[in-house]
Amino acid sequence: MEHVIAYEGKLVSLGLMQKEYGPHFFEWANSREGIEGTLLRPPYTLNNWEEWLASLDKGKGSNEVFAILLHDEREGKRTYQYVGHTGLHNVRWPEGRGSTGSVIGDAAARQRGCGTEAKLHLLYHGFQVMGLRKIVSSVKAWNAQSLGHLVKSGYQVIGRHRRHVFHEGNLVDEILLEVFREDWEPIWGGVPGNRRAAEAYRRAARFHRKRNKFVTTASRPPLAAAFPHKEAVHTRKGCYA
Ligand SMILES: CC(C)(COP(=O)(O)OP(=O)(O)OC[C@H]1O[C@@H](n2cnc3c(N)ncnc32)[C@H](O)[C@@H]1OP(=O)(O)O)[C@@H](O)C(=O)NCCC(=O)NCCS
Repeated sequence: MEHVIAYEGKLVSLGLMQKEYGPHFFEWANSREGIEGTLLRPPYTLNNWEEWLASLDKGKGSNEVFAILLHDEREGKRTYQYVGHTGLHNVRWPEGRGSTGSVIGDAAARQRGCGTEAKLHLLYHGFQVMGLRKIVSSVKAWNAQSLGHLVKSGYQVIGRHRRHVFHEGNLVDEILLEVFREDWEPIWGGVPGNRRAAEAYRRAARFHRKRNKFVTTASRPPLAAAFPHKEAVHTRKGCYA
């Protein structure tokens, strides 16, 4: 099938959502492993998928979702495999804020950096294309993979709802995170392959600042400072309320 690429990355690209992806998601959505960290649950039908997809068309500006397409490079040719999706939701103006959510249904594609790269591109879309100011997210406290990929993308943990989400018979805490453009931007610049785009953005930002007589010169934090997640996240076992 033809994929339609919106943002080309190194490991993954973000593509337009298409109804042909439905049978894959339908399978993941009915298996615990596929959707455990999300608020979805079985039974999930193909009709559910199609209705959701149709709602995205109507929700443009408020809900914008992209397919995560994993690259496969063979003999100099790149092909794409749909492994999940990532999106911006509940966009509000004049606050200029929204929230994000991602799911990589294909477990074989997790823990390889795909979620982080997809999120960095989604944040590009949110900050640079939609003009958002701030983006929030929330995660079940045991979900280290999700916390890890958010913190790696620039989100900071700002709070915690205690005993907030029902999960497998327990009420578990929910961790609250948020990211501003200035948290994301140096990380975006640090991803190989995005350097050129980031440099172009910085040049444009310098020009814009000068023209508008902005005086802020946000210093770039060392990249290591952007990756505290190894310490920040919890083991699955240790964080039930
Ligand atoms: C959440 C999700 C999108 C993240 O994507 P991913 O491709 O697995 O994430 P990445 O590989 O880019 O990053 C995960 C990071 O968390 C780190 N991490 C995972 N478990 C960890 C743990 N127990 N302690 C510390 N760090 C951990 C990983 O090591 C990795 O960081 P690294 O690359 O520096 O090693 C994906 O795992 C997924 O779809 N999970 C199921 C659905 C879900 O939970 N969605 C989120 C709902 S809020």
